[in-house]
Amino acid sequence: MNAVQQSAAREDTRDDKVLVAEDLKKHYSVKRGMFGTGTVKALNGVSFSLTRGRTLAVVGESGCGKSTLARQLTMIEPPTSGKLTIDGEDVAHANSEKIAALRRRVQMVFQNPFASLNPRKTVEQTLGEPLAINTRLTASERADRIAHMMRIVGLRPEHAKRYPHMFSGGQRQRVAIARAMILDPQIVVADEPVSALDVSIQAQILNLFMDLQEQFRTSYVFISHNLAVVEHVADDVMVMYLGGVAELGDKHTVIGRPRHPYTRSLLSATPAIFEADRRVKIKLEGELPSPLNPPSGCTFHQRCPYAVERCRKEVPVLREVDGRQVSCHRAEEVGEEDGRPMPA
Ligand SMILES: Nc1ncnc2c1ncn2[C@@H]1O[C@H](COP(=O)(O)OP(=O)(O)OP(=O)(O)O)[C@@H](O)[C@H]1O
Ligand SMILES: [Mg+2]
Repeated sequence: MNAVQQSAAREDTRDDKVLVAEDLKKHYSVKRGMFGTGTVKALNGVSFSLTRGRTLAVVGESGCGKSTLARQLTMIEPPTSGKLTIDGEDVAHANSEKIAALRRRVQMVFQNPFASLNPRKTVEQTLGEPLAINTRLTASERADRIAHMMRIVGLRPEHAKRYPHMFSGGQRQRVAIARAMILDPQIVVADEPVSALDVSIQAQILNLFMDLQEQFRTSYVFISHNLAVVEHVADDVMVMYLGGVAELGDKHTVIGRPRHPYTRSLLSATPAIFEADRRVKIKLEGELPSPLNPPSGCTFHQRCPYAVERCRKEVPVLREVDGRQVSCHRAEEVGEEDGRPMPA
């Protein structure tokens, strides 16, 4: 390899990881009855990296910290601790100018486009505003860009003068996606972007996300509680449980051969994915514990059919097992007994 190739290779690896989260935590102080305050550990040590042009899907039950993670990644609020690196820039140490630039590169799509779009602005105004603020394009160049973007997301030219209430839910989400994409961001964080839509519309919007990714090489953090959706869009999957990472890795590895009992129980609850599968089903018992008062040891131990004494006492660290990261003391055994009775 000559010097130029070496530097190109370095460039590639540097570019490869557009976002790196290291031990991210977000704790909220909350009033607790009449006696002082408590701490909600909404995000309690999350580490992962996002590769350029890929989709990392984040799954987990309601309240496990998915939206809290989204708010950290989009710099809507600062983490309590941990390190967030976006495009090689340590967010905590970036100056305000740099932060403004990073915010342009990380856009967000929300679950409910009705709430996230300004009801008093037409599509043209909604899409034109970020261009007027962030670029030096002339009015006619902006109009061209808006028309182009509208076409790409499947909106017709006559939609430009319409207000959000004049659209269907799916079309409104197309507007929100166009707004997120108009500055050609590096990363889009989408928080349950199809959950509020009609099932028949969901696939269209998911396909739109995928087409845009192919066209612009955007990296996605795609949050969904629906594993069928995740299976459709993800390259990598991160399963969250009570503010932490249960399992993380390539989609085919994590969904195809899960090593965390929680991942397996999520899959058991998603029949569509399981059709041709003979996997042992795990039924989840009990509710998600409160992040205000998380269980000792492994936070999943109270609901886990594999739990042993060690799980009650010792916090499992995220570690590499069988080609993925998993935080379970018994990860080597989980999945090995398929087709046989469950362990005692
Ligand atoms: N500002 C806040 N103050 C106090 N607690 C909060 C705050 N924001 C979130 N939480 C708590 O943090 C935990 C994680 O919430 P979060 O909204 O991130 O979950 P989620 O995974 O997005 O859930 P859902 O699937 O229902 O959207 C919850 O227990 C929630 O009540
Ligand atoms: Mg949420």
